[in-house]
Amino acid sequence: MNREPLRPVLYDDARDVVRLLDQKRLPAEEAWLELETADQVAAAIKDLTVRGAPAIGVAAAYGLAVEARRGAGEARLRAASETLIHARPTAVNLAWAVRRMGRLLGRGAAALLAEAHAIRDEDEAACRRIGALGAPLVPPRARVLTHCNAGALATAGYGTALGVVRAAVEAGNPISVFADETRPFLQGARLTAWELHRDGIPVTILTDGMAGWLMQRGEIGCVVVGADRIAANGDVANKIGTYALAVLAAHHGLPFYVAAPWSTVDLHTPTGAAIPIEERGGDEVVMLAGQRIAPAGVPARYPAFDVTPAALVTAVITDRGVVRAPFDAGLRALA
Ligand code: MRU
Repeated sequence: MNREPLRPVLYDDARDVVRLLDQKRLPAEEAWLELETADQVAAAIKDLTVRGAPAIGVAAAYGLAVEARRGAGEARLRAASETLIHARPTAVNLAWAVRRMGRLLGRGAAALLAEAHAIRDEDEAACRRIGALGAPLVPPRARVLTHCNAGALATAGYGTALGVVRAAVEAGNPISVFADETRPFLQGARLTAWELHRDGIPVTILTDGMAGWLMQRGEIGCVVVGADRIAANGDVANKIGTYALAVLAAHHGLPFYVAAPWSTVDLHTPTGAAIPIEERGGDEVVMLAGQRIAPAGVPARYPAFDVTPAALVTAVITDRGVVRAPFDAGLRALA
């Protein structure tokens, strides 16, 4: 079993480079990129080299730190902040991290780097706390269904949904995981399967349409997913396909848990209807491993996220506590 913690976003203080594990090349290759500008980091966020709500927040913070350490002044840092914030719209962690860095833009490069390190360290600690709070909710020996990748790769380390899985395993609960493949970028088949297998946690890949059948046969004990933004009323934006799982879980009477750090909670967004949903190019849907898999000339849609109404969520597991309905009051109480 490989227990070396997986940390996909790092900063080399001696050489002033942001180090990113290239998630486009996993699992075939473990390649690390070294980035020297905020624009390079923004491009890496946009093209999913680094992805997952907390991880893109950490990457953006390091993007501003590297820019400052390489001599950028306040005006340049403000422009870079705008570019980073607009790299992806749905995960609120990105804007949260950039705004947090924004409060220190005039204070010098050392202060910015220290803040970026703090954002990274706090996120990993939050994931471990989410794991500790969430593990007791996982039924004994359960087969846990997850969607996309809300693991170490999507965070500073340890993961949110997969943090709950890891903590349950560490507590001695011999669970196993079903990972939805998560079309079209295949975060489940490529990334969730890779990181769980690396840690010796049993994982089986499903295609995105299989969950209903397995639930009907009693083969799934609960669903645990991550989130890109949680509105004040408890509505949850997460990878496209999450909403369908929540409907299925409700139909089959299964718990549907959402695990996320507090930086994913956006009390300024009243309901899911106000969450901006990223639409990516349809080409990403019809191209698979460089091959076109659909007839040329037929359009494809790629809304990258969907919104699960709070009514379908059993509990939101945050580092500040576990929240159940009524979510608006519960989230406000933790704010
Ligand atoms: O498009 P992605 O891969 O960035 O989408 C990621 C997800 O939807 C994750 O579930 C979410 O960011 C939670 S990560 C802890």
